[in-house]
Amino acid sequence: MRVAVIGAGVIGLSTALCIHEQYHSLVPSLEMEVYADRYTPHTTSDGAAGLWQPYLSDHGNLQETLWSKETFDHLLRHLGSPAAKEMGLFLISGYNLFTQPVPDPSWKNIVLGFRNLTAKELELFPGYRLTQRGVKFFHKKVESFQEMFAQGVDVVINCTGVRAGELQPDLELQPGRGQVIKVLAPWVKHFIITHDIKSGIYNSPYVIPGSEFTVLGGIYQHGNWNEENSTQDHKTIWENCCRLLPALQKAKIVEEWSGLRPARPFVRLERETLRHGHFQAEVIHNYGHGGFGITIHWGCAMAAARLFGSILQEKKVAGPPQPRL
Ligand code: FAD
Ligand code: BEZ
Repeated sequence: MRVAVIGAGVIGLSTALCIHEQYHSLVPSLEMEVYADRYTPHTTSDGAAGLWQPYLSDHGNLQETLWSKETFDHLLRHLGSPAAKEMGLFLISGYNLFTQPVPDPSWKNIVLGFRNLTAKELELFPGYRLTQRGVKFFHKKVESFQEMFAQGVDVVINCTGVRAGELQPDLELQPGRGQVIKVLAPWVKHFIITHDIKSGIYNSPYVIPGSEFTVLGGIYQHGNWNEENSTQDHKTIWENCCRLLPALQKAKIVEEWSGLRPARPFVRLERETLRHGHFQAEVIHNYGHGGFGITIHWGCAMAAARLFGSILQEKKVAGPPQPRL
């Protein structure tokens, strides 16, 4: 059984890991391959601020909230493990600032200790191990699903992010362009995300400390495919973030990055049987994670692995995986 995952961002790699973890012992013939034309550090996932929090996407999709919760709980289980440093995993507290009252977010009971800001706080304010498992990696652009099946692949897992439309047209998938400035500011210990819902183009600043650098951002441009940094956006981010946190004026800029969020009204996570004459082949789509791919990746990887299990059962290759204790 040959399985090809297309995509080596957070979605492709976590989905490959999840399927391999659950099925390699049940399906001895399982051969897993990952195809991608961009690997770390050149994927959208590498540039992400890396915060667990659904961003610009809290529109009440219960399934997405459940996948995000599964991801949070998965990350929490790894927090005390020796792998935590390599995973860039740590707990952080911070503020979400709004210009008008809003309902509590869907994730209020997922994170540890959600609460509303106190009056005093309000006064403060006027970013695996697959090779060892025998998974093979190919650095190449896949031109079509048919190309994979012609090579003898049995199941394709489509984790191609914002470029999924190149393999199968998807009018609902759009780039949500973002730009960030990474600075050295080790004194920043809280994240601050502002939500200025008034502005049509989303230019609401955020400041998110990572393990090495602090990420300054807040650019969202729907439909913009440009992956180059823009001087105008640089100016917007810098001025807005320095206004929010004047101490940043002294911070050293170390990097600037632009990336495209795979924006979609909802994540596409489903099976599709592709027919070509007498020939039929299975694809599992797992893309369209907008500004929350890091937040939701493990829940989606688990769901994709379950879909893979249903294909195995239909093909009578294996029964369902044993629950992990
Ligand atoms: P990608 O990381 O883009 O990976 C796609 C992969 O598919 C690549 O390996 C590419 O080479 C491959 N590919 C595509 N087409 C083909 C093809 N035809 N042939 C071969 N390979 C192909 N989310 C959060 O949860 N928290 C955050 O703090 C956060 N911050 C962000 C900040 C910014 C500025 C931006 C832009 C996004 C941020 N996100 C954040 C969102 C997150 O980065 C994305 O949702 C996530 O990276 C999407 O992951 P992906 O694996 O689907 O896509
Ligand atoms: C972003 O897409 O820019 C983002 C996502 C999650 C948290 C903060 C920022």
